[in-house]
Amino acid sequence: MGSNFAQAVRAAARRPFEERRQRERELARAGAAELDTIAGLLTDDDVRVRRTVVEVLRLVGRDTPRALEMLCERFAREPDVKARRRIASALGESGDAGHCAFLLDALERESHRFVQASLILALGSLRLSDWPDSWRARAGEAGPVGDALRKALANAQAPETNGQQALPRPTGSYLLRCYPGAEPLSQLELERRGLEATVTTPGMLRLEATGAELEPLSQLRSIRDDYHLVAEADAHGADEVAGACRRIDALLGGAGELRFRLGMAGVPRLQRRKLLPKLARRVEHELGWINATSSYELNLEVFRLGARFGLAWHAASWPQVRRPERETVAASIHPSVAAGLALLAREGKPADAAHTVLDPCCGSGTILAEHAALFPSARCIGIDIASDAVAMARANLEPLGKRCRVTRGNMRRLPLDDASVDVAIANLPFGIRTRSEAVSPALYADAARELHRVVSPGGTVVTYIANLRMFRNAFERAGWKPGTPTCAVDAGGLTVHVVRMQRGYP
Ligand SMILES: C[S@@+](CC[C@H](N)C(=O)[O-])C[C@H]1O[C@@H](n2cnc3c(N)ncnc32)[C@H](O)[C@@H]1O
Repeated sequence: MGSNFAQAVRAAARRPFEERRQRERELARAGAAELDTIAGLLTDDDVRVRRTVVEVLRLVGRDTPRALEMLCERFAREPDVKARRRIASALGESGDAGHCAFLLDALERESHRFVQASLILALGSLRLSDWPDSWRARAGEAGPVGDALRKALANAQAPETNGQQALPRPTGSYLLRCYPGAEPLSQLELERRGLEATVTTPGMLRLEATGAELEPLSQLRSIRDDYHLVAEADAHGADEVAGACRRIDALLGGAGELRFRLGMAGVPRLQRRKLLPKLARRVEHELGWINATSSYELNLEVFRLGARFGLAWHAASWPQVRRPERETVAASIHPSVAAGLALLAREGKPADAAHTVLDPCCGSGTILAEHAALFPSARCIGIDIASDAVAMARANLEPLGKRCRVTRGNMRRLPLDDASVDVAIANLPFGIRTRSEAVSPALYADAARELHRVVSPGGTVVTYIANLRMFRNAFERAGWKPGTPTCAVDAGGLTVHVVRMQRGYP
């Protein structure tokens, strides 16, 4: 196992950021049993490997104190600044004030100012109040050390919130964020709930909430986040951001010392990097709020709305049903898009009508989990060829009890009777992200034929598909009539078509 694990770490370390993060989470699941292998990798010559195992230990450290001890032991000998900063954050996130002595000692010895800042922030997260005078005196300095000290000292004084202060949702305009191209799917959910929203820009809908609309907002599953739009402006500078914060403060009746995070989704990356610290400082200065990027009560975002900017916010305490933590396989669909596919599959049908839904390549079961949450009378069947996917789907769907059944099987020969399901929803393997050798016209042809066999006459199939031509050839030959796609979702740069088909009667 050890050498397999080491190989998996080396492979993960070479992947691009998003994929690496996903693989690190997967490695962390086995991490507690692999601490000896990890100890060897912590001294690897390749800095990417060391960064990866530090991240794995950080994740493992949430339940395994030995993992954090290993990080402490590594800190002084680790030459890489990023890895040292990550070790400091891991100790800060542990919530264990017992690490303060180690962090203070490391701070005294540390000469790199960004690592010093990370150590200070970690001490701030652990709410150290007993700061040495020499560090207290530097809180007035400009630069990363002074910034971090101001936050850490404020943290120590802020009352323990034990979670979040409950901030009310105001009435007014809300921005609902979905994947660009997936707006028609979210519109279906809004219509089902009697809500009316307009598309403002790709991936963004706007809803006027005067009262009754506020409660269902937290229940919408086909959107990623919702934000209260507090102001619109022609620019996105310090005046506009501070002005928006003053309005939020007034709406909340003077909320006092709030922990906030500022994001600028609508601003190009380089500009954003330059602007963010300046704007956050201005908000701290003017409103007395605390810039706390990892544990905040209020998330402020600057969005682009056509030629203008929208200043919008979201409270961490607003109830949230979306994006529950789930185990995921590679190339998993986002839960908001999965919910959209489920809504499309049941368009025009009463929400409480009993039916059977199949995902013939269910991966970790995201589509079925969303379908079951939206339609409580649905019986769900998941099939996947990979045993680890089947195990994940079973774990993810377990809370739904007997109405979900997941089996290992091949969609080319579905282990199901003819006309035994009412709906099938399939995010068919694209063979692009997973680079699966198995994705071929023959696979699609067999899947199309099998779906035609198991879906009952009058039933519905919804597919999420990147290669439209290969898909059309296969499905038309099997007797389906794939009309025009309902929409095309921009899934992180890859265009994926959503196609709904009806099974005809013989
Ligand atoms: C793109 S993922 C989709 C996973 C999931 N439906 C989702 O949307 O998150 C494709 C899944 O298809 C599975 N798969 C590939 N070939 C298959 C086959 N012949 N039969 C059943 N499942 C297959 C893979 O194991 C993988 O879990």
